[in-house]
Amino acid sequence: MYVCVCNAINLKKVQQAKAEGIRDAGKVFEMYGVESCCGQCINEMNNFLLNENVPTKTLIKVEGSNPSPVTNQTN
Ligand code: FES
Repeated sequence: MYVCVCNAINLKKVQQAKAEGIRDAGKVFEMYGVESCCGQCINEMNNFLLNENVPTKTLIKVEGSNPSPVTNQTN
């Protein structure tokens, strides 16, 4: 599951950042040597970093458009 599709940052990578004490999406980008692109993942990523909430949205990038959020809830 990608949390940040622009930079191919998946949930595992965000969990690794969180385990290292990172609590800000900007620092996650820094850790992986990338920069924010569209910014649509920032709130969801910060919410996960600051709380125990697992991201419920995946961003889908359609060629030539901004990523669109898709809810992943199964229930
Ligand atoms: S910058 Fe993360 S989805 Fe675009």
